[in-house]
Amino acid sequence: ELPRFVKIVEVGPRDGLQNEKSTVPASVKIELIHKLVASGLSVVEATSFVSPKWVPQLADAKDVLQGIRHVPDVRFPVLTPNLRGFEAALAAGAKEVAVFASASESFSKSNLNCTIKESLVRYRDVVTSAKKHGIRIRGYVSCVVGCPVEGTIHPSKVAYVAKELYDMGCSEISLGDTIGVGTPVDKLAVHFHDTYGQALANILVSLQLGINIVDSSVSGLGGCPYAKGATGNVATEDVVYMLHGLGIETNVDLNKLMDAGDYISKHLGRQSGSKTTTALRKL
Ligand code: HMG
Ligand code: MG
Repeated sequence: ELPRFVKIVEVGPRDGLQNEKSTVPASVKIELIHKLVASGLSVVEATSFVSPKWVPQLADAKDVLQGIRHVPDVRFPVLTPNLRGFEAALAAGAKEVAVFASASESFSKSNLNCTIKESLVRYRDVVTSAKKHGIRIRGYVSCVVGCPVEGTIHPSKVAYVAKELYDMGCSEISLGDTIGVGTPVDKLAVHFHDTYGQALANILVSLQLGINIVDSSVSGLGGCPYAKGATGNVATEDVVYMLHGLGIETNVDLNKLMDAGDYISKHLGRQSGSKTTTALRKL
């Protein structure tokens, strides 16, 4: 049985842009976010308060967050890797944050420069402070299906990290592979990068397993600078097209979403990574 409604978490402005070599001006990021909101998306991950040495593209996090027009019922979570990032996000007006751990020890080291355990200790501090300020926290678990260095990751590792994040107070856990994870399904989201073209198939299976939150990136932008070879996320346009085709509601206007995709693709000087956009623009 498929869900009647799927919540899409648009990660384009963050995951989609974090790996871009040429600096995208804050004004363009802000305009992109406004266009995504105009299409009906209600959760748009806006940026990251991480070290600018690690992710130079998002060094303007404060400007981006402060430049966003707030719309009722639209949420703009930002990534925070530690308490310092959380405090900077709070000062810039963030109302929601996300922490990101890994199911793979090697990836934790290359992405956060610490062990999984150390990252969880940091995140406990972030969650404690967030609770005090009434800030909602999303938890990511990376490398849930496999890791570029370690290969296959055992589901028990994924379940362990997901449960730790959930138990410390994350309200939603975003995963790449849900099989074998015994936490409540309405608190799980799936986050697929489309490196091998399997993302839509994986999303469909996830929906059949009871998932109803899907992460995606406008025009399929993205990739993690610390995960070699990882390409963009699944394109939001393709997810919306599939969901609407299945009769599932998203509240997203596909045409307006494609406009947002055209805007950022044009800025980056590249073709849309969305197959739906490519097909519909030819008609
Ligand atoms: P480190 O080098 O171990 O930490 O980095 P440090 O404490 O030694 O700090 C290094 C420098 O960064 C210092 O500055 C700090 O002050 C500064 P310096 O003294 O050299 O001038 N610093 C900060 N600056 C701004 N904001 C902060 C901050 N913290 C320290 N919050 C650290 C550790 C965690 C900071 C670093 O590893 C980092 O920023 N990592 C983030 C990497 C990242 O953003 N990766 C991409 C996102 S994850 C992802 O894409 C996966 C996901 O999409 C899910 C999936 O697809 O699976 C979520
Ligand atoms: Mg990602």
